[in-house]
Order: sequence, then structure tokens, then C-alpha cells
Amino acid sequence: MAKYLVTSALPYANGPIHLGHLAGAYLPADIFVRFLRLNGDDVVYICGSDEHGVPITLRAEQEKVSPREIVEKYHKIMYESFKKMRIEFDNFSGTARKDHYELSQKFFMNLYEGGYISKKTEKQYFDEKAGRFLPDRYIEGKCPFCGYEKARGDQCDKCGKLLNPLDLIEPRSVLTGEKPVIKETTHWYLKLQDFEEKLVSWITSNTHWKENVRNFVLGWIKKEGLKERAITRDIDWGVPVPLPEAKGKVLYVWFDAPIGYISSTIEWSKNIGKPDKWKEYWFDKETKIIHFIGKDNIPFHAVIWPAMLMGQKEKYVLPFDIPANEYLTLEGEKFSTSQNWALWVDEYLAEFPADPLRYFLASNAPETKDADFSWKAFQIKNNEELANIYGNFANRVFTFVNKRFNGVVPEAKYEELELNLFKEIEDKIKEIKYAYQNFSVREASKLMMDIARAGNKYFDETKPWSLKDDKRLKTVMNTCLNLLRILAVASYPIIPESAEKLWRMLGEENDIRLERWDSLGKMRIKDGQKLGNVEILFVKYEDEIIEKQLKKLYDKSKAKKEDNKMEYITIEDFKKIDIRVAEVIDVIPLEKSNKLLKIKVKVGEIEKQIVAGIKQFYKPEELVGKKIIILNNLEPAKLMGETSEGMLLAASNDDKSILSVLTVERDVPSGSKVS
Ligand code: 2FM
Ligand code: ZN
Repeated sequence: MAKYLVTSALPYANGPIHLGHLAGAYLPADIFVRFLRLNGDDVVYICGSDEHGVPITLRAEQEKVSPREIVEKYHKIMYESFKKMRIEFDNFSGTARKDHYELSQKFFMNLYEGGYISKKTEKQYFDEKAGRFLPDRYIEGKCPFCGYEKARGDQCDKCGKLLNPLDLIEPRSVLTGEKPVIKETTHWYLKLQDFEEKLVSWITSNTHWKENVRNFVLGWIKKEGLKERAITRDIDWGVPVPLPEAKGKVLYVWFDAPIGYISSTIEWSKNIGKPDKWKEYWFDKETKIIHFIGKDNIPFHAVIWPAMLMGQKEKYVLPFDIPANEYLTLEGEKFSTSQNWALWVDEYLAEFPADPLRYFLASNAPETKDADFSWKAFQIKNNEELANIYGNFANRVFTFVNKRFNGVVPEAKYEELELNLFKEIEDKIKEIKYAYQNFSVREASKLMMDIARAGNKYFDETKPWSLKDDKRLKTVMNTCLNLLRILAVASYPIIPESAEKLWRMLGEENDIRLERWDSLGKMRIKDGQKLGNVEILFVKYEDEIIEKQLKKLYDKSKAKKEDNKMEYITIEDFKKIDIRVAEVIDVIPLEKSNKLLKIKVKVGEIEKQIVAGIKQFYKPEELVGKKIIILNNLEPAKLMGETSEGMLLAASNDDKSILSVLTVERDVPSGSKVS
């Protein structure tokens, strides 16, 4: 039995969770943890929300509320989404809590007293219009490494390199769009170079790490060498720097965030009534600490965080592994919150159960390269694998056993065919174990489905529907039920809800989590066991359902694009517009035009004429007597030789095939002002 502490990157509490998040740091970790538990390992699964830094303050500014309100709101929303997706942490904390502040300050002080922190007064960008310094995401510009135009002050999203704001080419303030000026400010820097030797030898020795993680950091250190890095900021939301001379400064979010892994473990210990339990994980060399992250988090977890741990007085365990995943795209495009090109977990869950998505994301996990979620591929995976292979195997077995054996497990006398099949499945179970242990959820999903494939093949070959020999029939159905039993456990880490359902259907009374991986292949279902009620495991999704989702996705992003393009006006601008109710007194079609009508109206006591292009939509007599809405103070213009002294307001659809003149809902006098 090994001891594990598994973490998923703390998500910023600045918005809901989308599929891209799930696929990278959460689902693979949850699957790993569920497997470890079946394997009999001791494991704690830790997470929490990342509640500091510019991602939070920017969001608070957008929503015009305090940072605390933002983190409280999104902490809850994220936690609920995880729960519904069956991502089950032992603790989901938040970094704006007291214990976390204290531990972060202690981390800082240990480094400070160990001589690993230096103080420097340096030039920083400052937005004069906003009157503020511009750390991290408050500033954007061109990446000096890859030329990406929207690199942020602390990191380039495209090439993943860590940056300093002064490195950016053509910087601009995110707050005002202005070109910032340079001002001096004092900050505290972590002397990463002091850890370089130790880090390089530690990383080099971690040959079990994924190539992308190890090569990325070793390449970075070798090429550029480690330099000191600012770990304090001039913003007013964060953990205060614990030095009297640093009043008003807070710790950089990436300094305090990973400490959240420890403070969340402390919180967990307290919650379970064993306040010192966390030490058994963080201070024991035997603990394997595994950080699941997305690839943009690699430098922080593989270099800065280990350096912070190395510089502590207490002997913390260093991460054992850092399985970083690549990105998930959506219908071939990068997820983008600002463009609303995203599929939110809650949105998905409003119409579909968790398991089909868990299965899709597991079998398409972005392990070694980016992967894509498309609704069509999701439909195929669900219909052709979950429903047609897994669900179908269960369905045909249950139907048969219920009909022929009254829902009771028949006894078996296995022959060579069955013994070979069980042997084949036992090998498969070993392979699945290897895949789960090595974070290959893609491979584990495929191998797990192979058990159902083998079941269908056996069913087809033994043809139970035409078996005359009762003993043989009993053996065949008993074997199928055993395969289903194994399938339930083997698939539990990936699709827990369906696996539990299948478990109940098999009439198993113990919790599925009490099964143990290594005895799985040898365990047999009890003869005479009464099966449970049949439940539907998976439904197939028809084309219309999938097309509706696709349309929703595109419509949302289109609406957002229009919204993004929107130019706002002030109330003062609006006051310049004079919109009035006008009564139509006469309508004359213009002979020379097939579009225009000349409309005579009365605005209070004043008569005027308006020329409007609505001939295809209205007959003159439909309009006479109506009270319509006009823009009254539009500069007069000539249309086809006729003067138009205003503009009639109308609404029309995108392709201009439907048009409706605006009228008043109640009978207000003509000349009334619209405001
Ligand atoms: O990239 C992110 O979303 C960060 N909030 C991840 C933090 S991971 C950890 F260090 F807390
Ligand atoms: Zn770059």
C-alpha cells in the first residue's frame, strides 16, 4: 500500500468551469484517485479555489463588486459543478482563508530568513490614467519569445514562457488601453538562482516524469538560467507581505496559490478531527505527491514551487510527479471566455448526465497533444461505445437472465472457452492497472471497453438463444454476469455513476469501492444471487439533439461577438435623440420606387412627412390611423425627390424578411416623448 497526496490545480475563482478545465487537471486526477482507492492505496485528494491575484481583481472590477464577493460566488459555483461531475475531492478549500494566510506568510518568512529573498527598487509599468501599477494581467503586449500579440505581464499563453512586464514589446494597459509609463517601486524577489543546482539535479533524477514536463523545464533552465523573480505585488487584494516595511504590498498569487495545497490539507485534517494528520503526508518521504495541472502551469509547479519547498525550515516532501496535460479545443478552436467560445459544465449538465462526458474526455484526454471536443464526436462515442458496446452487453445479459433464470445468477461449470476468457480478462485487468497508474486514461478507457467488447463477442459466439443444453446455458450466462461484474469495477474510475448502477443491477450489496483491484479477476459473482432491478445505463443521442447543441454553441458566440463590438453611448448621448409618438394621417406609395412609402404624420400639432422603405411589408391602409414611433430630430433628407423629416422606427430579423413598425402598446397622445 502506497501513500499518495493528489492535487488538482487550484482553479481561479473568477468564473465557472468549462470542459477545457475538466479535461486537463480535474477528471484525470479524479480517475487516478478512484483507481488508487480500488488498488487499496492510502490517498487524499486535495483542491480549492485560487482566490487572489489579478484574475480575481479584474473580474471584480468588471462585475463592480468586491474581490471577496467574487471569490465567494465562484467558489460555490465551481464546487457545485465538480460535485455534479463526480469530481470528488477530500477537501475543496479556498486561498482567502485565515490558515492559508498564516501558512503563506510563514513560507515567505522562512525564505526571507534563509536569505533567499532580496529587496529591490525597480522600474515597473504604471497607468497614469488609472493611477495604478500594472502587474501581471493588467498589462498586455507582444511576447519577446514567440511574438504572440496578447502575452500577459507574467506569462505568455502561447509559448508558456514566464515573462516580466518590462519584457513585453509594445505594452498597453488592460484597464485603459493606454501606453503605460515607467515608475519605480519596491518589491521582494525570490532568488531562484540559489536553487538552480539542486533543482536541476532533482528534475534530472525524475526520469519517470512525462517528457513534455521534464524537457520543458530543463530546456528553460539550461537556456536562460534561473533568475530572481518578484513575489510581491502592488495590489490591495492578497496575502499581506509579512514585513513592516512592506505595507500595502501583497504576495504574488503564484507564490501563495501552491501553498493552498498544504493549507487545504490542514483544513481537511481539522475537518476530520485529526488536526495533525496532514503532517503524515507532507512530511513523510514515503508520500507520493502528485500535482495534476494544465501545461501552462508547468514552470510554477516544476521549478518555483519546489524551490519554495526547498527553502523551508521544515522538511516538506517534494512533488513526486507532475502530470501536465495539453489543451482541449472546442470544435477545433481554442476555448475563449471572452469570445464565449466555451461549453460550460453546468450548461452541459442541464441536458446530459456526467458519465458520457467523463467517458468522452477520458478516452480523448489531451495527454500528449491537444485534443478536441466536438458534439459530433461526443455523439459517436456515446452511441457507438457506451450504448452499443457497454450498454448493449449489459442489456442483452440482463434480459436473458431475467427471462430464463428468473433474475437469479445460475451456477456454472466452466469449460476451456471460459477459462481462457477469464485468463484473457485477467491480463486485461493488469494492463488497465498499468494504464491507470501511469496517468494514461485514454488507454485505460479503451482497455476497459475491451472487456465489454470481449463480452459481446463471447455472447455472439456461444449463441445462448439457441443453446439446448441447460447446463451450458447456465455457464454462459454466469460467465457473462461475471464479465459485467468485472466491467463495473474496471469502469468505476471513469464512469462512476453508471458503474454503480450496473453494480446494483448485479444484485451486489457491498459498496463497489470496497472491491480490490488485484483480486478482481479471480472474484466471482455468487451463484443464486438475486439480480437487482434493471436500469437504463446509457441512452443514444439522436442527430437533432446534437445539432441543437451545436447551434446553441455558435449562437452564443455570435451574440458575444456582437456584444463585444457594441459601442456604448452615455445617457448624455441618448438625450440628444428625440423620439416621439406620431399618428399616421395619410400614406402615399411612391410610384417610381418599389420600396418607398411617403407617410404623413402628426407629431402633436405639427404635421410632417417621412419617407420609409417599407412598401413590401405594409399596405398604405394598414398604417393609416396607427400611432407609430419616429426619430423626430433626424436631419431632413431628400429621397427620390421627396423630403423626409424624420425616421420611422421598425424592427426586422437578420435576413430582413420580416419587418414590424414600432407602435405604442397603450393609447398615448401623438407627440409624446419616448425615453
Ligand atoms: O492557472 C490557474 O488556473 C491557476 N489558478 C492554477 C493554480 S495551481 C496552484 F498552484 F494552486
Ligand atoms: Zn510567447
